[in-house]
Amino acid sequence: MTTRRLQAALLRWYGRAQRDLPWRRSPTPYRVWVSEIMLQQTTVAAVTPKYEAFLQRFPSLVSLASADEDEVLKHWAGLGYYSRARNLRRAALAIVADHRGVFPSEFDAVLQLPGIGRYTAGAILSIAFRKPFPLVDGNVIRVFSRLFGLRGRAKDPGFVKKIWPLAARLVPTKNPGDWNQALMELGATVCTPDSPSCGACPVAKHCVAFKKGLQDALPLPEARRKPVPVRWTCLWIEKNGDVLLWRRSDKERLLKNLWGLPEAGRIAASPGLRIAAASHAITHHALTVELREATLHPGVITPPEAKWVPRAKVRDFLVSSLWLKLLRK
Ligand code: ADE
Repeated sequence: MTTRRLQAALLRWYGRAQRDLPWRRSPTPYRVWVSEIMLQQTTVAAVTPKYEAFLQRFPSLVSLASADEDEVLKHWAGLGYYSRARNLRRAALAIVADHRGVFPSEFDAVLQLPGIGRYTAGAILSIAFRKPFPLVDGNVIRVFSRLFGLRGRAKDPGFVKKIWPLAARLVPTKNPGDWNQALMELGATVCTPDSPSCGACPVAKHCVAFKKGLQDALPLPEARRKPVPVRWTCLWIEKNGDVLLWRRSDKERLLKNLWGLPEAGRIAASPGLRIAAASHAITHHALTVELREATLHPGVITPPEAKWVPRAKVRDFLVSSLWLKLLRK
């Protein structure tokens, strides 16, 4: 009975307080899928404008499947974690090949697609297909940890494993997508990591942590990882209006498989004056980059990783915000 009350209270609140986000208007499987992939590791504020532009350029699954990878990456520029964009395109191709271009509605078929795990499958099935599948993300873990007074660290796999059956038990057969989004919405806007707004919470009276005054203590704090410092010197090599770009391999620690400016030492060139410097964080790495003008040593044959690109086109290739920071300077 309390489960029913809890569900009703949260759903009522969501009906009234939900943010007007573009993917919530006409939640087709394709639109929900793209939004959920973008929202992994990226905030709603950063995703919203990119989402609209991406959907303009790739309005349908078939349009995404027909695009080449560099074009998709260009429209992912600034969102980070670029393997997400590659998997998105690969999954679109798989849906065209194996499901005649129609997004599958069975859990196992959805889970087979590149880049789709249990969370994304749960989101697509519940929001777009209205099937009662649960989902668990960082918001849901925090909300459940407090609501049920569960002691654990949000990123501890053992703790996360305990949250899934709880989520499965609570997801209603009616409006499962609203329920899942309401949990995430509550976590994002009310039940926030620091100083949660329990006064504004629609389910405070069901909340164990609130009753015991433990809302600031749950979930247990993360063991903080210190960022790994990384220094690069990159080269701006320009000749006859073309700039030398470098395709980073899949063996790189950072920005794998992406176009960048060549790092010093990778090509026979003499670094000259420093023209810019920038700091940039990528997944627990603190990257410091300086950019120097350089000229190739005479007679150097450029390796296959390198490519001359007209100066005006350089920004189309350099998708990481790191390069934007440097080039703006
Ligand atoms: N975070 C990721 N997906 C979300 C959604 N659909 N609603 C609210 N927050 C989210």
